Amino acid sequence: MRVGVLTGGGDCPGLNAVIRAIVRKGVPEYGYSFVGFRDGWRGPLEALTKPLDIPAVRGLLPRGGTILGSSRTNPFAIEGGVEKIRTNLQNLGVDALIAIGGEDTLGVATKLHEIGVNVIGVPKTIDNDLSGTDYTFGFDTAVNIAMEAIDRLHTTAESHHRALIVEVMGRHAGWIALHAGMAGGANIILIPEVPFDIEQVCTWVESRFRLDYAPIIVVSEGAKPKDRDESLLNEEKDAFGHVRLGGIGDWLAREIEARTGKEARTTVLGHVQRGGTPTARDRWLATRFGLHAIDAVHRGDWGQMTALRGTDITMVPLSEATKELKVVDPALYAEAEVFFG
Ligand code: F6P
Repeated sequence: MRVGVLTGGGDCPGLNAVIRAIVRKGVPEYGYSFVGFRDGWRGPLEALTKPLDIPAVRGLLPRGGTILGSSRTNPFAIEGGVEKIRTNLQNLGVDALIAIGGEDTLGVATKLHEIGVNVIGVPKTIDNDLSGTDYTFGFDTAVNIAMEAIDRLHTTAESHHRALIVEVMGRHAGWIALHAGMAGGANIILIPEVPFDIEQVCTWVESRFRLDYAPIIVVSEGAKPKDRDESLLNEEKDAFGHVRLGGIGDWLAREIEARTGKEARTTVLGHVQRGGTPTARDRWLATRFGLHAIDAVHRGDWGQMTALRGTDITMVPLSEATKELKVVDPALYAEAEVFFG
């Protein structure tokens, strides 16, 4: 059997550990050969390949990113894209594909499976918002990076008696904000699932300052205030004369300054949350996903995805995992609220 492997969507620490585990088990135990596809679905679409054998996966465990490259190419959005993939797989002698990706990449895998392509999925995203699995690898690394940033921001916030806002990734789900915020002792955590009241946020900020603490606010990039007045976002200068453009973190800083008279600063962590070496937990999870993915190929579990349930790795249908995103339960968020203000 010849197995193609690809990584799609935003990169994430642990991708290389999955690739390594697939090859390290697939070659000696099943006698498979592998072909790496470059840059997500663009690889099979344009027949962009990379050799993938035991020497190619040496030293990969601590390495961030993906040796195969990634992209957000969607073959279903390209005329004749799916047919090109079929032809290329045939020409390259590829019998099965392992697609490592998030909602979009695995959404493509789901559709390809439905038209008869032999596909196995492996979930990845630092956002942890994929259904069907308790956790995705990359999430733990991102949370630890954000937590370390929060730890560091506490001391500078206190020295300058400022409110500090940390904007973390999470367009649709607040998992990183919730976990990093709780671990880092944030005084307010704002997530996309629960629209916030800016007046309430300012009340918490003021009560924190009254206790002689500097408040730390962790906000997901996708968080939204209730009844947001868009015109506020277009103001050129804040109460301190600074020009503030950009996302929700900057908007919050400007609002807090204007409403409380206290200085506020924003740190946008951005892609630093996705880069660099994976934590031990992410290497462990990614490795187990890789091992189970190649076992699934051997069994012919097409259209299935590896998933973590408790401490077990199981298989779930791709169609189920890609149906809707896994968002933060309000009850879980309520636990963090105990520490607000
Ligand atoms: O990987 C998911 C994610 O990290 C989101 O949280 C974020 O909005 C997005 O990727 C950013 O992606 P890009 O690399 O395209 O800027």
